[in-house]
Amino acid sequence: MTVHFIGAGPGAADLITLRGRDLIAACPVCLYAGSLVPEALLQHCPKGAKVINTASLSLDEIMAHIKESHDAGHDIARLHSGDLSVWSALGEQLRRLGALGIPYDVTPGVPAFAAAAAALGSELTLPGVAQSLVLTRTSGKASAMPEGETLENFAQTGATLAIHLSVHVLEEVISRLTPSYGADCPVAIVWRATWPDQKVVKATLGTLEEATGGMRGRTALILVGRALGNEDFDESCLYAQDYDRRYRPQSADSQWANWSEGDD
Ligand SMILES: C[S@@+](CC[C@H](N)C(=O)[O-])C[C@H]1O[C@@H](n2cnc3c(N)ncnc32)[C@H](O)[C@@H]1O
Repeated sequence: MTVHFIGAGPGAADLITLRGRDLIAACPVCLYAGSLVPEALLQHCPKGAKVINTASLSLDEIMAHIKESHDAGHDIARLHSGDLSVWSALGEQLRRLGALGIPYDVTPGVPAFAAAAAALGSELTLPGVAQSLVLTRTSGKASAMPEGETLENFAQTGATLAIHLSVHVLEEVISRLTPSYGADCPVAIVWRATWPDQKVVKATLGTLEEATGGMRGRTALILVGRALGNEDFDESCLYAQDYDRRYRPQSADSQWANWSEGDD
């Protein structure tokens, strides 16, 4: 048997990959992180599947369920919100599975930052404005931030920031970022992106606190940076008429005209 870790996406039930959906449908056991994974996804489980919400379970208890299913020869669909590469506790589960010799694979999902950017209709990397995106958070009860990964340090780069797990300390986030980004820097908060009750507030660092009207909630992403809502940027060379590239060589001498497989 195999444990299939599946990125369940940001909330909307149709924002899961076809592969993820098909794996859910093929597994007689489903463990899902119920605090953020939409229950609607469980409709894909086969009839009679054993379905367990792991929101209140410890890692030991989760592993006990997995071991029991493994011993019974059952495949498991293991659902986590968004994508598994960030803040999913994937690492610690894989380490335990490795020690037990239980096979697994990982299917990616749509991460919350991408859902929030889509809700804003924004590209987070604009030519000449921002070419990097930092996925970060502030310290929480469960995880302290490693030294050096401070908001102040990231702010000095001017990159676009996608700040997770931090809307409850919004005032602190604003005061730590304002010295580098400036009070006029655009910022947006997207609560529960792609859920039916999604909410968006767009403001600047200087006006954000008032713009939220005191709304905090739990599941929200704070996006900060000059790329947000920016219309004053250069077009990229990629689609320029005279830009020489592999799929549109500009002459017979172009470096791409004689390009062949293996040159990539
Ligand atoms: C434990 S992390 C999970 C991140 C997830 N693995 C991902 O790929 O986005 C939970 C945090 O992600 C953000 N988040 C997750 N889903 C969200 C959504 N639908 N809208 C806005 N933020 C979301 C919030 O900051 C939330 O506190």
